[in-house]
Amino acid sequence: MNPVSLAIERGIAVVTIDNPPVNAASQAVRAGLVDAVRRIDGDDAARVAVLICAGRTFVAGADIREFDQPPVGPLLPEVVARIETATTPWIAAIHGTALGGGLEIALGCHYRIADPKARLGFPEVNLGLIPGAGGTVRLARLIQPGDAARMIASGKPIAATRAVELGLVDRLAGDDLRDAALGFAAEMQGANRPSPLSGRAPLACLDASQWQAIRTATEERARGRIAPVEAVDAVREATELAGDAALAGERERFVRLRQSPQSKAMRYVFFAERMVSKPPEIAGIAARPLGHIGVVGGGTMGAGISAAVLLSGRPVTMIERDRGLLAKGLAATRAHLGASLQRGLIDTAGHERILAGLSGSTDHRALADCDLVIEAVFEDLDVKLAVFGELDRVTKSQAVLATNTSYLDVGRIARAVRDPSRVIGLHFFSPAHIMKLLEIVRPETAAPDVLATGFALARHLRKIAVPAGVCDGFIANRIMNAYRRTCDTMLEEGALPRDIDDAMTRFGFAMGLYAVQDLAGLDIAWAMRKRQAESRGPDAPYVAIADRLCELGRFGRKAGAGWYLYPPDSPKGAVDPVVEQIIREESARKGIERRPITGDEIMQRIVQTMQDEGRRILAEGIAASAEAIDVVMVNGFGFPRWRGGPMFMGDPIALC
Ligand code: 3HC
Ligand code: NAI
Repeated sequence: MNPVSLAIERGIAVVTIDNPPVNAASQAVRAGLVDAVRRIDGDDAARVAVLICAGRTFVAGADIREFDQPPVGPLLPEVVARIETATTPWIAAIHGTALGGGLEIALGCHYRIADPKARLGFPEVNLGLIPGAGGTVRLARLIQPGDAARMIASGKPIAATRAVELGLVDRLAGDDLRDAALGFAAEMQGANRPSPLSGRAPLACLDASQWQAIRTATEERARGRIAPVEAVDAVREATELAGDAALAGERERFVRLRQSPQSKAMRYVFFAERMVSKPPEIAGIAARPLGHIGVVGGGTMGAGISAAVLLSGRPVTMIERDRGLLAKGLAATRAHLGASLQRGLIDTAGHERILAGLSGSTDHRALADCDLVIEAVFEDLDVKLAVFGELDRVTKSQAVLATNTSYLDVGRIARAVRDPSRVIGLHFFSPAHIMKLLEIVRPETAAPDVLATGFALARHLRKIAVPAGVCDGFIANRIMNAYRRTCDTMLEEGALPRDIDDAMTRFGFAMGLYAVQDLAGLDIAWAMRKRQAESRGPDAPYVAIADRLCELGRFGRKAGAGWYLYPPDSPKGAVDPVVEQIIREESARKGIERRPITGDEIMQRIVQTMQDEGRRILAEGIAASAEAIDVVMVNGFGFPRWRGGPMFMGDPIALC
């Protein structure tokens, strides 16, 4: 079926793209658009054209699946040029998201009208690319070049209202985009088509120092990614060259980047994230309802989970041990929501509506109506078993019960309930309302529709769900523990925490392991190590440095000290000679002669450990695929997306 259709009525040609799910600009769409230009220009009855999309969104970009195949024309730059030079003026009517190649098509059109909820952007840098169909050239001629460079380099879409302010969109539609676009078109009938954007002069020219400032800021944020910096260079070039030469230069950059290892890695992660979130075992299985959600425990995780659920528009009832703790948990949840308001993620009306959905109690019976209850109490099996016994008594028999445990046996917790088939693990990451990853832990007893409900929740919360089997730490914490042990061993051999953290940030992690531990708190992992102490053989290799810090109450930032010190003048952490002393003492106690360890050795050993543990996890069936492990490492622990993940990197590991 042709995904592009054309209807001409009362002088207006309506071109509709219908290519589910996201109207990607596939070869058939491109060919359909070129054909539509030809037919409209050849038809005297058509005096203006409206380009609109069926389904949930405007064109969300080039079809990424075609990037690894030989190109088949017409290519997108040619399609956009054909629209731009059509004799009939075109109006793009935008709803949902106009992204990448989709926005480039809209820039080829002569006017743009958008649904007020639409978002527009160039996410190419998230795939290791820059726009390749004139986006840098046309945007720099429509809005201020500095804004164009920042928008393309950030990869973040902007709201339609902001797009109007910048001059990217001509007007906002009311409730009905189609009607508004047709009204706009009726006004434009008989008007001359404006000159092609790519042939115009840029709106303004920045001087060399202004460009350098944008480039430097971009480079700092990019942390090793090349595409954002290339994007700034491309926009600058687009303002310095004539349109045709700028278009050719942009395309050359795009094709070069498309073949780069960074782009291949990021495209792999893009598809891996979507693939792992749809495990075959729940295909076609309907989820249970997800109306009212309960959260037991209002600490760090309980408050974050409550905020995440509330932000998805669902009411939450929080349970705490006493009224004081409940007030604290509710206040922490409200603070998260307030921060979301400040960051512009919700508006004032939305904030008030969401707040009205938050309630709390110290009585578990308040959970009687809940469809799903997520437990986030202390990491202590007995405490959790008692909570699940209580949930068994008070909740509806069809309600799904989930534990947010980091390490404990979800199968054992499920057996505390008369019907264990309704129990799963939902392992959120901290802060739970911000982190994208959700491990869905499947005890053998879990019913398929209970698992499907976990994945449905992830979709509602806009999180990336990865199924994981039951073991100590599931996928994420099990791999993290393995490389933590490797790092601790390197401390004994001669490295210091700062050496390891610096090597990790140079590799592309946002933070190093020890800085992260200080942020998250050292106590939960310490409790886990103490629990495992009995089963650990006396001769098993064990590094006690972290235990010694915990024995001193150095639980991280919240305690003012952990692997680093946190005086008021150094909130990000200062090196502490006391820690260095403890490390040296531990090396000496084991008779280890300390030696310098290079950053390259540190990263080789860390990634190697991740791969080794990953292979064990795969062999045991804890993770279903190497992709699942990479998605966990990228979204849970900040493994640089542009490297694809430890499993994708393969062996030997290229560190450049
Ligand atoms: N090409 C091919 N497939 C795409 C696609 C694209 N550009 N964008 C999304 N899809 C597919 C997904 O793989 C998924 O397929 P599946 O159902 O088989 O897993 C399906 O569409 C639905 O996608 P999501 O699950 O992501 O749906 P959401 O509603 O959550 O999100 C979205 C929609 C915001 C459009 C999101 O899919 C997205 O961000 N897509 C990528 C957009 C993008 O990067 N565009 C730029 C592409 S590069 C480009 O245009 C180059 C140009 O300059 C030349
Ligand atoms: P926390 O100590 O901050 O909060 C736990 C809360 O549970 C406390 O407020 C406590 O009063 C409450 N509580 C204890 N028993 C209760 C009961 N019977 N009924 C109601 N409330 C009760 O702990 P945190 O960090 O929020 O961890 C909670 C769970 O989440 C643990 O299982 C932990 O392993 C897990 N987790 C923690 C992560 C983290 O980064 N902190 C990340 C992912 C999971």
